[in-house]
Amino acid sequence: MENLKSYSTDNKVIHKSKEQNINDKLISILGSGFAEYRKKWDAVNRLELVTDFPMFLHLDMHQYCNYKCPHCNISDEKLLLKQFEGQINLEMDFEKYKRIVDEGSNYSCPSIEPQGTNEPLLIKDFHKYIKYAYDKNFIDIMINTNGSPLTARRSQELLDSGLTRLRFSLDAATPETYKKVRVGSLPLAKIIKNIETFLELKEKGGYKLPVTGVSMCVMKGNQHEVKLFEEFWINKVDMVTFQAFTPPTYDKDYSDFYPDELSLKDRISTRKDFKCPQPFQRVVLRNDNITACCNTYSNQLKIGKLEDGIYNAWNSDFAKKLREMHKCGKYYENPTCKACVEGTSSSQ
Ligand SMILES: C[S@@+](CC[C@H](N)C(=O)[O-])C[C@H]1O[C@@H](n2cnc3c(N)ncnc32)[C@H](O)[C@@H]1O
Ligand code: SF4
Ligand code: SF4
Repeated sequence: MENLKSYSTDNKVIHKSKEQNINDKLISILGSGFAEYRKKWDAVNRLELVTDFPMFLHLDMHQYCNYKCPHCNISDEKLLLKQFEGQINLEMDFEKYKRIVDEGSNYSCPSIEPQGTNEPLLIKDFHKYIKYAYDKNFIDIMINTNGSPLTARRSQELLDSGLTRLRFSLDAATPETYKKVRVGSLPLAKIIKNIETFLELKEKGGYKLPVTGVSMCVMKGNQHEVKLFEEFWINKVDMVTFQAFTPPTYDKDYSDFYPDELSLKDRISTRKDFKCPQPFQRVVLRNDNITACCNTYSNQLKIGKLEDGIYNAWNSDFAKKLREMHKCGKYYENPTCKACVEGTSSSQ
C-alpha cells in the first residue's frame, strides 16, 4: 500500500494511516487547545520539558480479563496473584476514580487512559468513567479494548461519552492466528462484526470522535500476517498500529515470542542509547500505588502511594532520580528498566 503516513513517538509503537497523522486530525477537530497540548507532549517526549504534574494519567482500573493472551502480563493468573500477593482488584471504585480525575483536573492534566492491563469494557457502566473525565476537561481520553464486550448499545454509549481515541487490539488477520494469539477469545468474525457495528453507528450519527484504530502486537506467531492485517484494515479505520512485543515482568522465558529480527528491524529499534520518555509523561495508578510506567508491575518503578496524591509522587525524590537516570541514558542502573529495554524478562 502506497502513500501511507507512518509515525511513532517512541519507535516501539508505529501508527499508520491513509489520510493524515492522527494527531493532526485531532488538531483539526479539537482546535488550538489540542495543538498546544501536543506541542508540550512532544517536548516532554524529547525529555526537554519536565512538567509540574504528569501530562498523562494511566489507570489500571482492575486486573481482570476475559481473554488469556499468552503475551500479556495478566494472562498467567498464578504469577499475577503472586505479584500482587493475592490482592488483585476487580474494579476501581468510582469514588476513587473521581478523586484521581479531580486531582488531574485541578492541575489541568490533558490526557487520561482509564485502562491498564485488563479489559476495560468488562466494567458495565464504563462510559460513565469516560464521561466524568470529559466533563472535568480532559481533552484526550483513550482506551484499547479486545472488542468482545462491545454491543451496539455500548458502542452508542461510548460514542456519546467524549472518548477521543479508541483502539481495538486484534493481533491477527486470520481466524486461525487470532485463536492462537488471543487465547480464550470469541471468534474473530464476531469481533470484526462488533467493530463494523461501531463504525456504522459512528458514521450514521456523524461523530468525528473517537478516532478509531486497530492494533497488532508483532510476535513470532503473527508476524506473517502484518501485511494482510494492514491491507484489510487501512481503508476501514483511522489508523493501523503495530507495536513491539515487550516481555511481561515475570521470571519466565519469553524468547519464543520475539519475531524474527528481519521482520522486526524496520519497525522497532531497541537502542543502547535508549532514554525512556514514560517517567516524563505519565503516572500509572494501579490499586493503591503510583508507578512511573505502564510496562511493569515492578516495585522498582513505584514512585508513591495513591493516598499521598499524584502531585507528591510525581515530585518525589525517587521520581526525579528516575527521570535523571533516563536523561543521562543510564537505563541499566534500574534492573527493571534494563530488562525492559534489553528485552529480557525480570522477576522484579
Ligand atoms: C494490555 S491490553 C489492554 C486492553 C485490551 N484488553 C486489549 O487487548 O486491547 C493493551 C495492549 O497491550 C498489548 N500487549 C499486551 N501484552 C503485550 C506485550 N507483552 N508486549 C506488547 N504489547 C502487549 C495488547 O496487544 C493490547 O494492544
Ligand atoms: S485481551 Fe488485552 S488485557 Fe486481555 S489478555 Fe489480551 S492483551 Fe491482555
Ligand atoms: S521499565 Fe523503565 S524503560 Fe521500561 S517503560 Fe518502564 S520506565 Fe521505561
